Amino acid sequence: MSNGSNGSNGSDGIESRLKEDRRFSPPTPFTFRARLKTAAEYERLYKQSLEEAETFWREQTTDLVFQRPFDKFREWLLPHAKFFVGAKLNITESCLDRHLTTDARTRAAIVWEGEPGETRTLTYFELHREVVRFAARLADLGVKPGDRVAIYMGMLPETAVAMLACARLGATHSVVFGGFSAEALRDRINDCEAKVLITQDGAWRRGNVVPLKKMADDAVAQSPTIERVVVYRRMTHELAPVTMKEGRDIWWDDLLTHTPSEEALARAKKPEGFDAEHPLFILYTSGSTGKPKGVLHTTAGYLAGVHVTSKYVFDLKPSDLYWCTADVGWVTGHSYIVYGPLSNGASCLVYEGAPNFPDPGRFWQMIERHGVTILYTAPTAIRAFIRWGDDWPNKYDLSSLRLLGSVGEPINPEAWIWYQRVIGKERCPIVDTWWQTETGSIMLTTLPGTHATKPGSTGKPFFGVHIDVVKDAGKSCDANEGGKLIIREPWPAMARTLYRDDARFKSAYWEQMPGVYFTGDGARRDQDGYFWVVGRIDDVLNVAGHRIGTAEIESALVSHPAVAEAAAVGKPDELKGQALVVFVTLKSGQTADEKMKKALGEHIDREIGKFARPDQVRFADALPKTRSGKIMRRLLRDVAAGVTEARGDTSTLEDLSVLAKLRGDEE
Ligand code: WT7
Repeated sequence: MSNGSNGSNGSDGIESRLKEDRRFSPPTPFTFRARLKTAAEYERLYKQSLEEAETFWREQTTDLVFQRPFDKFREWLLPHAKFFVGAKLNITESCLDRHLTTDARTRAAIVWEGEPGETRTLTYFELHREVVRFAARLADLGVKPGDRVAIYMGMLPETAVAMLACARLGATHSVVFGGFSAEALRDRINDCEAKVLITQDGAWRRGNVVPLKKMADDAVAQSPTIERVVVYRRMTHELAPVTMKEGRDIWWDDLLTHTPSEEALARAKKPEGFDAEHPLFILYTSGSTGKPKGVLHTTAGYLAGVHVTSKYVFDLKPSDLYWCTADVGWVTGHSYIVYGPLSNGASCLVYEGAPNFPDPGRFWQMIERHGVTILYTAPTAIRAFIRWGDDWPNKYDLSSLRLLGSVGEPINPEAWIWYQRVIGKERCPIVDTWWQTETGSIMLTTLPGTHATKPGSTGKPFFGVHIDVVKDAGKSCDANEGGKLIIREPWPAMARTLYRDDARFKSAYWEQMPGVYFTGDGARRDQDGYFWVVGRIDDVLNVAGHRIGTAEIESALVSHPAVAEAAAVGKPDELKGQALVVFVTLKSGQTADEKMKKALGEHIDREIGKFARPDQVRFADALPKTRSGKIMRRLLRDVAAGVTEARGDTSTLEDLSVLAKLRGDEE
């Protein structure tokens, strides 16, 4: 099926490899051992997954634990859908208990490495035990099915323990990425009315301590629903001094010394089966308004989606050590560090710190040291590694690797080729997986033993995914014609709603194009049925793999007393994919200078988090607007990218109204 090479002839120049139609067949040794080996197998299963969905999902989920089987596979009244209707399950039994009676019992579930270099391994037996112990104490703290629990932690085994313990009790977890500020944490806690917050004293990041508990204190001071705060001790008191509030705060270790009540222990040991649609977690993500969306995922469909995708996309085997470098605070961590891999009994490497600490060789050193076989990371990281130079990976033995993955943003062909050549040594297939917080599981990908890959393409639809590229009116585009990426039918791991904002769930995803799910992405499908995702076409940016809503940045900026008006746009950036540029109009009497730029940057750090700090602040006399008052973002994007030169001194004040007049009144 390939018209290209299998990548073993290293003599071609990079240039010829970047030809868009270049394909790489799966390396034969990989295919030989792979779960799926031929395109025909994929076609058969894909066809079955759409035409006999129930049979497909029944057969593919036989290894999962259901306390009661489903009566009906799917109920669908858009925008709402239910899957595995009538089933009862406790998701943690599929991730933990079922492995206790197999070889997985003594297999590593989590191999953890701290940023300073220490390591810890938890077998499935140990992970199960920790989850049961912690769940019993959480139950005694009053956590009941349906309660919300916020988790504000770094990358520790205990973060997974906390998530799984919540799930075991039927409590809905909401993990808040440790890079978010106290204000952002507070807003998320208040939106979901969390009862308990689980955090840690501090987390290592590039040699520095991120004072999570201190930030949690600031958040909780304004979060009336929080009754208890459980604090995991990662640091010493010297490194991360914390104040424990009497009656509210409790150390994780101290909590474990309490003898659990009989009832709590019973709930933790023999977990209750919850309805298939029982809420599992809420994860906040950015949309096109100032308010983050609380994406709600439920139990059975989500589990089925992440289980089956993990199995086929990563071709997981008991002999693998799988490493997903995402933070557990994003959906990738939920689906492909915790629920997907664990439900497959996989061994997962979890790393606490930064990729360039103490030096840019850290990832490659860890791959050599632990014998990582599967690496799943983001294009922005790959581009940083390219910049740091080939000498770093070349110093280490990467021969344990057999599969590479990419996720989070479009990967440029140059980065893809580098990843394949320098990291994969042309032996490892690359899976470029497209999906979203809302989709829950991978939607577009190649299957590693099956499909040829094309650098920059996210491949084909995964099983059960009825996806299309359409024009505005909803008609399918021709091959290679650009359009909007939509999904025609609900899929098991789909988000069920936005927490307490069902109207927004409907309008944001299901009404842009009636009757289908609108992804917010632009794409095209080529003559071979491969998808090429170009990126967001709504007001959402993807900066270094972080999803950032322009409206959130704008509303944070206008909350600063000096700011009258603000507009945030993306600008193409070699390293980050997109860089964040903000245009700001100050209130009269305010001075547009470097000091103000710094103050606004720090204001964003406080309101959202450091990762959302603008790359560039530009001051303008006025923002260009249409007659109806809409900011002309397209024009600002052009100005930011340097396509259109703004008049005047661009570093201080620019007169964008002139440009707007030249352009006419565009909507
Ligand atoms: C947006 C979703 C998927 C989990 C992490 C991000 C972009 C994601 C790809 C890819 C091109 C991609 C899309 C999507 N995106 N993966 N392989 N190729 N673009 O989840 O924060 O919900 O962001 O990330 O624009 O809509 P998220």
